[in-house]
Amino acid sequence: MKLACAATVRRSTRSRPCPGAWSTSASGIPFVLSTASNATIEEVAERAGGELWFQLYVVQRSLADTLVQRALAAGYTTLVLTVDVTVNGKRKRDLRNGFSMPLRYTPGVIADVLAHPRWLLATLANGMPQMRNVQSAAAGDMAAQAALIQRAMDASFDWDDLARLRASWPHRLLVKGILSVEDAQRCMACGVDGVVLSNHGGRQLESLCAPVEVLPQVADAVNGTVLLDSGVRSGLDVIKSVALGADAVLLGRAVLYGLAAAGEQGAVEAIRMIKSDIDRCLALLGCPDIAGLDRGFIR
Ligand SMILES: Cc1cc2nc3c(=O)[nH]c(=O)nc-3n(C[C@H](O)[C@H](O)[C@H](O)COP(=O)(O)O)c2cc1C
Repeated sequence: MKLACAATVRRSTRSRPCPGAWSTSASGIPFVLSTASNATIEEVAERAGGELWFQLYVVQRSLADTLVQRALAAGYTTLVLTVDVTVNGKRKRDLRNGFSMPLRYTPGVIADVLAHPRWLLATLANGMPQMRNVQSAAAGDMAAQAALIQRAMDASFDWDDLARLRASWPHRLLVKGILSVEDAQRCMACGVDGVVLSNHGGRQLESLCAPVEVLPQVADAVNGTVLLDSGVRSGLDVIKSVALGADAVLLGRAVLYGLAAAGEQGAVEAIRMIKSDIDRCLALLGCPDIAGLDRGFIR
């Protein structure tokens, strides 16, 4: 199957330490573990199985080096460097709802917690989710965790650093958060294997274009892997992305909604629904193989 690997699932208080990774492994698609995950790189590798990718935020150089080496040692096959979170986006809904990290117990948050007794019990049993990769790093735990929570990345990370990262990672390296042909080409010139067209699910900067709008131009300009995420919710979205030039898509909330509603099985079910939707759409298009999709199918 040409599609989908789940995007960076971060938080869950369910008993299994890595339910998102377990569900993608059970579904036969790769899983991308976030730097900010609540299970460590090693725990996920040991317990989830399946093909694992690691998403890197460069909060501090030394921490980033350590995380990359840990992902390498643990058998992760792809490194995904996210570059569209330089600072925190202004998330108005979070502000309105009083949601912040670390959690502040406003009356609204307390009411919300009380309305979700199953979540409350699981959290009491397992503790509040922690950014365990950073916690367990050798140096600078507290400062790194605080910077990660505030999404305060190392702003000095530049193209030369990308080339250095390339040299330190022997497997596939993708840059995530690209929305222009120029940036995609510059990434490729640094030796990376491809790009992920993404506006971070619309969670960082208002009014950005949708990645699908720049997909055809980037796919034409780049001799490498082109993935896409942000707003993929159905098999038809996958089909349109592949027809316009994506090699595969990443799924974020489509899987997270299933996970939130019904745990691991909910995530598995969400992926199953998208897969069966792809098959149905291909049949209706009269295209027996997803590899046969091209722009001729799009008007
Ligand atoms: C709850 C949540 C947490 C996320 N955390 C990260 C993260 O830690 N690192 C990252 O690169 N992207 C993160 N993202 C963005 C996703 O990787 C992805 O770009 C986005 O969710 C895709 O859009 P979609 O949710 O519409 O599929 C997060 C998204 C959500 C919804």
